[in-house]
Amino acid sequence: MSVLKIWGGERLSGRIAVQGAKNSVLPVLAATVLEGGESVIRNCPDLTDVHAAIDILRHLGCEAEFEDGTVRVDSRKITRCDIPDELMRRMRSSVIFLGPILARCGEATLSMPGGCELGPRPIDLHLKAMRLLGADVKENGGDLICKAAKLTGARIDLPIPSVGATENSMLAAAGAEGVTFITNAAREPEIRDLGEYLKKLGVNVTGAGTSTVTVEGGTARAYAEHTVIPDRIAAATYISAVTAAGGDIALVNADTGDMRAVIGAFRRMGARITENGDELRCVMEKRPVPPGTIITGPYPGFPTDAQPVLMAAAAVAEGATAFVETVFQNRYRHVPELIRLGADIRVDGRVAIVEGTKKLHGAKVEATDLRGGAALIVAALAAEGETEISRLCHIDRGYGKIADSLMMLGGRAERIDRKDK
Ligand code: UD1
Repeated sequence: MSVLKIWGGERLSGRIAVQGAKNSVLPVLAATVLEGGESVIRNCPDLTDVHAAIDILRHLGCEAEFEDGTVRVDSRKITRCDIPDELMRRMRSSVIFLGPILARCGEATLSMPGGCELGPRPIDLHLKAMRLLGADVKENGGDLICKAAKLTGARIDLPIPSVGATENSMLAAAGAEGVTFITNAAREPEIRDLGEYLKKLGVNVTGAGTSTVTVEGGTARAYAEHTVIPDRIAAATYISAVTAAGGDIALVNADTGDMRAVIGAFRRMGARITENGDELRCVMEKRPVPPGTIITGPYPGFPTDAQPVLMAAAAVAEGATAFVETVFQNRYRHVPELIRLGADIRVDGRVAIVEGTKKLHGAKVEATDLRGGAALIVAALAAEGETEISRLCHIDRGYGKIADSLMMLGGRAERIDRKDK
């Protein structure tokens, strides 16, 4: 079992480049299936989820290589239109391949992605969108069989602005005949980025990143290049670490325009955040103060993905912080692990109350999910003594070479990779 050891209590300082966005690269890689040509995708983070997406592309018959942050995909040849259970289980967002496979092949067979650590994660809105575009969707036990001789543009009114459902709708619509209108679309920056890539494929997309997205199908180009946007959640993780542990860090390649809610919250905690082009500096000289109630919500609200890392900084604040999680039902699984590190947190349904304590202390803890694992890293950096974090598989899904990054910021960290018995 691999573990990450962190010796906390040190101020952080230094400069680090923010990785490319996980939540952007995955739908963009799925979109390469639409093309029937070559794509060069730059600024790809080295994450297990990215490798899972590459394995799906290879399984479908595409050529796909990852080298030095660039993924090259040749999707001229597609030999199959299914995703086996093993690949679906490796990454829940495998479901994002549904739209592109259906559009390209006229059929798609996937196994249902199970519920995951954040609580039930239904895909009913994805399936409804495929049906509206003309697909016949059958759910057979754990399998999902979708067929469409032809997809036709439609109006898709989403009852909630689901990120995944918006992306799958855009991806299927890109291969449909005619125009698709998606209303109440999710407005996350990663959707804007997917829209940019689709435009490079020759799809006429307008409004990606706003509540109404219009997609006119058609992929003419046979070559596309794209650079993935910076990861605003990875950036939030580093800001949270310096807010909790103190110090002075600079983040290069940070899109601060996409981080307004997050930057506002950390400023309220006392972090001095200055922006200069794509560089963000964060200075923290004293103990954080509570930021006021944090209510997560769809973009441009406070991101649910940044809730756990901010909670770790709130655990050492001078006073109490209330959290209200409105997006996922079960997004407090990191709380018992933060409590092991000395945090004082009570959870009641979707509300968590964090009473700041002066000092956390090192302990053995387990990452329960991706962002919950990141919260443990933040807390460990602020804690006195040694923390050992296990179940790194969750953290590896979203943070490339995290121990190296922390050390670049002066944190004392070591990853020990052991083979599982
Ligand atoms: C994406 C992000 C994830 C982030 C989340 C919310 C990726 C790979 N993942 O996940 O990191 O935490 O957005 O910003 O980009 N829902 C339904 N039916 C559906 C789909 C969703 O009821 O068919 C519900 C979900 O249960 C949840 C809410 O909608 O309560 C939001 O989920 P959604 O935005 O779809 O999240 P994901 O796309 O799974």
